[in-house]
Amino acid sequence: MIDLRSDTVTKPTPEMLKAMTEAEVGDDVFGEDPTVNAFEEKMADLFGTEAGLFVPSGTMCNQLCLNVLTSPGDEVIIDELGHVFNYETGAAAHLSSIQLRPLKGVNGKLTKELIESAIRPQNDWDPHTRVIALENTTNKGGGAWYSKEELLEISNLADKHGIFVHLDGARIWNAMTASGVEPEFFGSVSDTISICFSKGLGAPVGSMMLASRDQIKKARRMRKMFGGGMRQIGLLAAAADFAVKNHHPLLERDHQNAKLFAGAVSRNPSFSINLKTVFTNIVLFDVVAADVEKVLDEFKNRGIGMVQFGANTIRATFHFQISDEDLEEILNVTETISFS
Ligand SMILES: Cc1ncc(COP(=O)(O)O)c(C=O)c1O
Repeated sequence: MIDLRSDTVTKPTPEMLKAMTEAEVGDDVFGEDPTVNAFEEKMADLFGTEAGLFVPSGTMCNQLCLNVLTSPGDEVIIDELGHVFNYETGAAAHLSSIQLRPLKGVNGKLTKELIESAIRPQNDWDPHTRVIALENTTNKGGGAWYSKEELLEISNLADKHGIFVHLDGARIWNAMTASGVEPEFFGSVSDTISICFSKGLGAPVGSMMLASRDQIKKARRMRKMFGGGMRQIGLLAAAADFAVKNHHPLLERDHQNAKLFAGAVSRNPSFSINLKTVFTNIVLFDVVAADVEKVLDEFKNRGIGMVQFGANTIRATFHFQISDEDLEEILNVTETISFS
């Protein structure tokens, strides 16, 4: 099957596996894995933060970040399409005793004005607005990215009100590719960042929390409490490091392929798409001629996997393991598939 269900479906390449087998390892719970230690330092330097912490997943990473930034009873402002709000099993309430305040942004993105209108007064009876959680690029928002100006405005607002900014950068690599924003800028406008290696970069596992030394120290303890203390994970850090070095440059092609696919969608009267909302590697489009299940089944019968992403909406996500031949087939099927 040509798998467009997600950019998390890629398999490690032989070159990545080789890098993994050559990694020097140690017990990371003791802080003794040299590959992990070097990689944490490297990513922290890249994004201009004091320290980093390698963790198993993007979900754990977001939850650790929120945990270290908040106290019970605090509130986190987030777009209603945010991953933390929709796809993390309500973890923020359970693990950190905090509540999320979802706002209706555009393509999963918040604006300074929207956030400002939701900041609460500091009364005893109000939840305390403690964190603004941004996602860059947005997943459910269709791969949209923040400009430098937008991020700076939000960061200045946060500073003015003494609120933290958390950046869910599961696809920060796509954001950098599309926007040209340099990594250290993200460190300058956020208090905590979660970056992932297992999305479009193609590592089998792994995310990293980037923050101050004190916050990482606290998160290291919480990671253990959440069950995320790992041992000889230099193997995984080596895969992630390989992915950053070798697969980040491939994301540009994924973005181009997504645009070509969106063009094919727009030429099929069974579908509807706003081409202006194709920002990176994620394409969201609506079905007008049949129900979504039927369309997904038909694509599947023709060898292409996608996922439902709303009542009438389908998501297709591009990644580096879609070959040129795959793309040709995807475009052909998408333009010609019909429903009667
Ligand atoms: C924006 C975003 N944040 C966080 C995550 C969570 O990552 P994981 O699946 O590694 O927990 C995802 C997963 O797709 C995501 O899209």
